[in-house]
Amino acid sequence: MAIQIVGVIGCGLMGSGIAQVCAQAGFPTVVREVSAELVEKGLKGIEKNLARLVEKGALTDAARNEVRGRLKGTTLLDDLKDCDLIVEAIIEQLPAKRELFGALDKLCPPQTIFASNTSSLPIIEIAASTGRPQRFVGLHFFNPVPVMKLVEVVKTIATDSAVYEEMVAFGAKLGKTPVRANDGGGFIVNRLLVPYLLDAVRALEEGVGSVEDIDNSMKLGCGYPMGPFTLLDFVGLDTTYYISQIMFDEFKEKRFAAPPLLKRMVLAGWNGKKSGRGFYDYADPANPKPMQL
Ligand code: CAA
Ligand code: NAD
Repeated sequence: MAIQIVGVIGCGLMGSGIAQVCAQAGFPTVVREVSAELVEKGLKGIEKNLARLVEKGALTDAARNEVRGRLKGTTLLDDLKDCDLIVEAIIEQLPAKRELFGALDKLCPPQTIFASNTSSLPIIEIAASTGRPQRFVGLHFFNPVPVMKLVEVVKTIATDSAVYEEMVAFGAKLGKTPVRANDGGGFIVNRLLVPYLLDAVRALEEGVGSVEDIDNSMKLGCGYPMGPFTLLDFVGLDTTYYISQIMFDEFKEKRFAAPPLLKRMVLAGWNGKKSGRGFYDYADPANPKPMQL
């Protein structure tokens, strides 16, 4: 495989997980955030995950030190210029992603492969901000990245087949099961998952049941690991809101439209677990309190 060094952009919920699994798979990994504080916060999260693995006996102390040694945090885009593959995991907004890849395209040699972890944006629309759409794919990981076994590998109409196969093999090298998806809005998983999550908010708005009862219904009645509101808080309400806008724009179908309550919660800064409040209040993290409508 030609991939030796990996770059990850964004060290939030997803970027930190992606950087962790790349370093655990043996790749020297450079991860970029916008401030030193956010680099530190992201690396601390990875450190906590590694500590949990050591405690469980799933990772030796020596292996943890090796993983740490392969990870480098930075605020400088320049530090990614020698990467063979760059995976982007920043905010779900097209202008930000296009601006970033425009800058990376100037910085990196022509052979560097670019990938976006976008949940819903057409990959080709991001790839078109570079002069190398043939070396551009979607690598869509799932939250929490160290645990979820899937990666959707997304091919656009412009992706070179050899580059695509290399990315499928890269996904497997990370210990994930790669599935092949084309560049349709939301790929495979979010095409099915997003309408379900938005419908849960609509059910709440219509008084079908409370946050707790709807969550328990889907957990205990269907065996889902989390109810829809716990999952919405886990994914991030801001991210879900952006995803719904992008998917509504793509399909013009009501099932993808953002429910007014979701919009208002995002406007209030209630972005879910990461901000301390969403459909649950996490003031006491061990005992989240459901929102009462
Ligand atoms: N990071 C790393 N590891 C984590 C973790 C995290 N954030 N959270 C939990 N884990 C690990 C735990 O250490 C534990 O490991 P072991 O089994 O080896 O001990 C394991 O995951 C299970 O954790 P818990 O026992 O604490 O809790 P759980 O059984 O409830 O599992 C969960 C937690 C795996 C998150 C589970 O609740 C789950 O699968 N939830 C659904 C997640 C989901 O649907 N993700 C997809 C979201 S959609 C998406 O990502 C796409 C998009 O574009 C929006
Ligand atoms: P997040 O808000 O947790 O993290 C995004 C991070 O990117 C922030 O820390 C921000 O400071 C940083 N950032 C913004 N611009 C940057 C730049 N130019 N350079 C470096 N860092 C920058 O968001 P997230 O949940 O990690 O989502 C990131 C991407 O992954 C989005 O495209 C999202 O749709 C996608 N995604 C999210 C999930 C999920 O469950 N949250 C799942 C799969 C895919």
